[in-house]
Amino acid sequence: HRNGLGCVETVAEMAREQNQIEDICWDSLGFSLVPTDQMYMSKCSTGGFFSKGKLQRYGSIELSPASGVLNYGQGLFEGLKAYRKENGSILLFRPMENASRMVQGAERMCMPSPTVEQFVEAVKLTVLANKRWVPPAGKGSLYIRPLLIGSGAVLGVAPAPEYTFLVYVSPVGNYFKGPLAPINLVVENDFHRATPGGTGGVKTIGNYAAVMKAQAAAKSKGYSDVLYLDSVHNKYLEEASSSNVFLVKGKTISTPSVKGTILPGITRKSIIEFARIQGFKVEERLIPVDELFAADEVFCTGTAVVVSPVGSITYLGKKISYCRESGGVGVVSRQLYSSLTNLQMGLTEDKLGWTVEL
Ligand code: COI
Repeated sequence: HRNGLGCVETVAEMAREQNQIEDICWDSLGFSLVPTDQMYMSKCSTGGFFSKGKLQRYGSIELSPASGVLNYGQGLFEGLKAYRKENGSILLFRPMENASRMVQGAERMCMPSPTVEQFVEAVKLTVLANKRWVPPAGKGSLYIRPLLIGSGAVLGVAPAPEYTFLVYVSPVGNYFKGPLAPINLVVENDFHRATPGGTGGVKTIGNYAAVMKAQAAAKSKGYSDVLYLDSVHNKYLEEASSSNVFLVKGKTISTPSVKGTILPGITRKSIIEFARIQGFKVEERLIPVDELFAADEVFCTGTAVVVSPVGSITYLGKKISYCRESGGVGVVSRQLYSSLTNLQMGLTEDKLGWTVEL
């Protein structure tokens, strides 16, 4: 049987695919790759415009050994989620925001970018082509991973002559142990995530390679993740390896301001808006690490981590515990988690126009 995409499918292969989805236990999804059916791919060479892309069977791609992304890290990624509603329809959360962030990141990395419309269209097509992999309502989400890479060959340090925009998806559950499971962080003193004038403010792939050493060391000591400090003073809070950080003190919520070294998270931005709507004063500012000692609650935000309450933070060997009496989950973290996820899953009316129904 030859499918419309030019791939030869055997009956055995089709049966294997069918089994794969039947084998999935939707109740125990974590955050690891589950190969799905289709991915979207579009290319752009000199001239700077992406052609209309196509869906193709999910699988390995061919790259020159001299490609810009492999040799010089010329690449960006995005992350967003699709949720299935009780009525079976699928909701995307603020896809235009991811599209705009890719446009901004591409400018920093000297890459052409798909337009916001092309990005959103590609995301919709990919989700619909992999509809059967969107977990049932309440069981997780379909994580969408758009990639923009310098795929053309280049030897000297220079922008690649060709770019590939790709979107693939994977069903996911919780990034950490459970929804609202408190995480334990350690403040990093030797390594930094970003430097002023660097690329910390865009979602370039190298930012994530750079944190792996500190993250691995922290994990080996039993911590969930690392909290980075600014690289100039080693004093101000920045973010964790894959999420932004917030501190709660009374009715004030603070988070590091986005000034080049902080990733402008879409969950971060959404939580700031929710908190303001709910009557909190939200400050985006420099936060000295010592403020961790006085905070009532700390939580991290991100597409993958959603809103993760922080149970403890260890700084210079001192462990600061939060919300012990409520199992490490603060009232404010819980409230913001519910506001966000209820909207993303279509359980509350979307008065903000943040969801896109497919
Ligand atoms: C996301 O939340 O989508 C991220 O970018 C985190 C990812 C590195 C797991």
